[in-house]
Amino acid sequence: MAIVELNNVSKHYGDKGPGAVEDFNLRTRDGEFIVLVGPSGCGKTTTMRMIAGLEQNTGGDILFNEQEMSGVPAKHRDIAMVFQSYALYPHMSVHDNMAFSLKLKKIDKTEIKQRVEAAAKILGIEHLLDRKPRALSGGQRQRVALGRAIVREPQVFLMDEPLSNLDARLRVEMRAEIVKLHRRLKVTTFYVTHDQVEAMTMGERIVVMNAGHIQQVGTPDELYDSPDNMFVAGFIGTPSMNFIKMRRHGEQLQGTDASLALEPWLKDKVPEGEELWVGIRPEHLRTVDDSRHTREGIRLRGKIEVIEPLGAVSLIQLKTGEHRITTQLEGRPRLALDQELELVSDMSRLHYFGLDERNLTVNAPAAEEAASLQGHQE
Ligand SMILES: Nc1ncnc2c1ncn2[C@@H]1O[C@H](COP(=O)(O)OP(=O)(O)OP(=O)(O)O)[C@@H](O)[C@H]1O
Ligand SMILES: [Mg+2]
Repeated sequence: MAIVELNNVSKHYGDKGPGAVEDFNLRTRDGEFIVLVGPSGCGKTTTMRMIAGLEQNTGGDILFNEQEMSGVPAKHRDIAMVFQSYALYPHMSVHDNMAFSLKLKKIDKTEIKQRVEAAAKILGIEHLLDRKPRALSGGQRQRVALGRAIVREPQVFLMDEPLSNLDARLRVEMRAEIVKLHRRLKVTTFYVTHDQVEAMTMGERIVVMNAGHIQQVGTPDELYDSPDNMFVAGFIGTPSMNFIKMRRHGEQLQGTDASLALEPWLKDKVPEGEELWVGIRPEHLRTVDDSRHTREGIRLRGKIEVIEPLGAVSLIQLKTGEHRITTQLEGRPRLALDQELELVSDMSRLHYFGLDERNLTVNAPAAEEAASLQGHQE
């Protein structure tokens, strides 16, 4: 297994313009499961290819177990990759596909047999070993691609959107399989997805990227509870967080649709007359008659524009004066389109962002202040 370290890693394809990846910093724990997530083109694949040695980084260093990798070619980095296209050899059986890289390495025949059978057992494909890839379903092919990586017993797994060819149901199933597999093998893994649900359910830590830059690194809970900025706040969580612009007037925050008491700890950060963003997750808005409120924060009133019943919950879109607000209510509440609805969120559930889109809570200037902030939030 390996501790993988990236220090100020960047990749510039041309001389000019922003890089595909800029200043990427991360140190994994041994055996950690890291998810890279972000919108298309944000630099996920480029980062993976640099770790693999398929692409040379133009800045910074990559280390495996404290050893500098820059001069080490891909085949000597002891990694195994699983990509979106499984690229199985069509003329070879499942067994031979899995055994191929071991044969190249001139590994002893009995050992190859052992490793292939052990991997096939883990993945539940023992009965398919004699088949050709064309006689397999998409999910089965995906397992073979995983098996081919497992038999190599690498110190790092790199998986780039390995499930994106599967249908929704199979994805959920395979996602659980990969997590189980990781628990069993404990190989340091980098897993790329643009699906934030996949990221949240699989990652021990998640790296959120946008436009070549890391936005935040954290556990799923950290990203959900304390997003560093509005990009992460809006990217993590479905449906996305609502944002409302408000302005400080004395002890109040006022917006076009609502007003709200100013938290004492915000007084020093938001001067009189200054604007900020208030963020509210859809699942933290409740109807006013819901008795579970402790300390009422913001109240929003508007007309219902969209109702999406999902079974266990319903998503309701509300048009307030200036904003479209999404809320997630339990079950199938009796509501009709165009009906007026009033929603409330608890004070403790609100997020605050400056006009620079940074989280005002996270940017606490001193540690003591941060500690006292925590106190306020509880
Ligand atoms: N060989 C290349 N030459 C020039 N630019 C490239 C090259 N490969 C990638 N890029 C650019 O680098 C940026 C990052 O690409 P990358 O493939 O890493 O994105 P990604 O996050 O994997 O996106 P996706 O989710 O669509 O796979 C993009 O703007 C892309 O156009
Ligand atoms: Mg990609």
